[in-house]
Amino acid sequence: MPELKSVTNTKLIFAPNEKFAQQANLTPEKYNELNQKAITNYAGFWGDLAQEHISWNKSFTKILDESNAPFYKWFEDGKLNVSYNCLDRHVLKNPNKTAIIFESDEGNVRKVTYKELLDLVCRFANGLKQLDVKKGDRVIIYMPHSIEAVVAMQACARIGAIHSVVFGGFSAKSLAERITDANAKYLITADAQTRGGRNLPLKASVDEALKILSLNNPIKKVIVNKRTKEECYFNEALDIWWHDLIKNQSDICEAEIVDSEHPLFILYTSGSTGTPKGVQHSSGGYLLGSILTMQWVFDIKPESDIFWCTADVGWITGHSYVCYGPLSVGATQVIFEGIPTYPDAARFWQMIDRHKVSIFYTAPTAIRALLKIDADLPKQFDLSSLRLLGTVGEPINPEAWMWYYEVIGKKRCPIVDTWWQTETGCHMLSPIPGVSKTKPGSCVSPIPGIMADIIDESGNTGKAGSDGYLVIKRPFPSQLRTIWNNPGRYVNSYFPKDIGGGKYYVAGDSAHLDNDGFFWILGRIDDVLNVSGHRLSTMEIESALALHPKVAEAAVVSKPHDIKGESIFAFVVCRGKARPVAADAENIAQELRQWIVKEIGPIAKPDEIRFGDNLPKTRSGKIMRRLLRSIARNEDITQDISTLENPVILEQLKSK
Ligand code: WTA
Repeated sequence: MPELKSVTNTKLIFAPNEKFAQQANLTPEKYNELNQKAITNYAGFWGDLAQEHISWNKSFTKILDESNAPFYKWFEDGKLNVSYNCLDRHVLKNPNKTAIIFESDEGNVRKVTYKELLDLVCRFANGLKQLDVKKGDRVIIYMPHSIEAVVAMQACARIGAIHSVVFGGFSAKSLAERITDANAKYLITADAQTRGGRNLPLKASVDEALKILSLNNPIKKVIVNKRTKEECYFNEALDIWWHDLIKNQSDICEAEIVDSEHPLFILYTSGSTGTPKGVQHSSGGYLLGSILTMQWVFDIKPESDIFWCTADVGWITGHSYVCYGPLSVGATQVIFEGIPTYPDAARFWQMIDRHKVSIFYTAPTAIRALLKIDADLPKQFDLSSLRLLGTVGEPINPEAWMWYYEVIGKKRCPIVDTWWQTETGCHMLSPIPGVSKTKPGSCVSPIPGIMADIIDESGNTGKAGSDGYLVIKRPFPSQLRTIWNNPGRYVNSYFPKDIGGGKYYVAGDSAHLDNDGFFWILGRIDDVLNVSGHRLSTMEIESALALHPKVAEAAVVSKPHDIKGESIFAFVVCRGKARPVAADAENIAQELRQWIVKEIGPIAKPDEIRFGDNLPKTRSGKIMRRLLRSIARNEDITQDISTLENPVILEQLKSK
């Protein structure tokens, strides 16, 4: 069992913002009422919310079915369509309301109203139908962060197809793996995406992925959205241009009514072992989670807010807080294709000023990077439209929190530090703005209805002041339903017998509960890395390294990093020859970095690579990662090394 880490606590505490509370969706009274109801009538709590917030085509009579735990079912006999909930119901009330303000990398702005978005979605959905995409078919979406990506996702939801978005930064090989696992017949992509002033090809990666799959390629059609002037290979037999597909399509497409439990999407994420897991989400439960957290955590006021979540649609944050959440509540949102530092580090602040953003949600990595480049730069912009700030993906250090609070939010804007996961679908732990006290670096407490807690291995609840495994003790509507095609892995990964006896959802994070009842996320308890808020598995990087012809063996550990949170440190043993040194080592390290870019994608590139004749192993051949972690961090080795087969190797690995 992995060791639990400890937290350096801060006593710094901020009272709830009373001015904010006066206008908030959740007042302290409502918040208490909700919490109380969740305790006294758990199913009724969720049932009432689902009735209130979702437009059902057929109302449900059953709320929660736990008979086949942990394969929970929510609102099982209810019927709905998620795209109807995101588009049609708002068009009926206010068709000309702006849905999306898109800003491209080069700064071009395009706005679409709810009516226009619905038309785009319907035309594209009709196109998909013409290609014979059916309810339940898997559709891979490998696209830039764009209006078209949202259209593609919503169009799938509209016809009941299951999308699986693959982040545009993943390599052809990673794409191929996901196509195979999902057994997808259709793929939607673009010629290229433009980020930081450069066009990065996407279609070329698709072609390469299909080449890798060769005879085992299940893809029957590739839809290509033309976005740049880059030339790209076009295979008449397989490919179809997006603009040709929608040319003669009607802008009316009846939404396919599906069961509440119908899978809305699969999203692959890294686990501690093996290939990425296809996290499968439902329609009704997932939608409810997205709506409620938009209301409670983001305090969304659709009539006046401009919401901006900077995450790419390739990640869960982009699913829940770009594609589904903001649209499901009828809000106006900003979508930005580019990066925070292009053309310079003022981009975010300039855009908040230009579009009058009122709710801004980003990752601590971006905050740290921008703070470091120029802490005073935001002062040149009018950020007075902001009223709420959020963070996601990794712990935020108090220094970055304070800067965000003081310089960006001018001490007026509450900060919501939201803890959640691909698997939970939406926020789980977070302050409620206007209600909760906050401490910089803490994600505070579970939102209403989420029975999160910390436990020890035997399942005993942790007392205030202790560390433990973060678990969620009751099923909740937005949680994953299974791992695509692998129910066994779902049970073993999230309901392990050795933590809490298989009764609870085990998040894979450890947390500290302080004496004031605040939760502090300590980090993963497994071999999952969090680099710039991106989840990566050490095993996946190790396996990719081991495939390189020059590599005999590799071990990957993380090292704390000022901006990225964690960085990737690889220890490598080369085949045959002795350990490379000096220029030779540098050349091979470069080669290995490029290899990882090709195997997984640029986000998995090791920051440091160190070579050795061997790795520290126990007599039974197990690599002692804890020692490698100490070496990577330049720490003295204090662990017991008596079981080590080859202690001399430690000295060698310590030197570059
Ligand atoms: C980490 C991202 C600390 C955590 C939404 C979790 C966080 C993993 C926070 C999920 C936070 C996410 N504070 N750590 N506010 N939010 N994490 O699936 O380790 O990409 O298990 O989902 O990110 O990453 P994922």
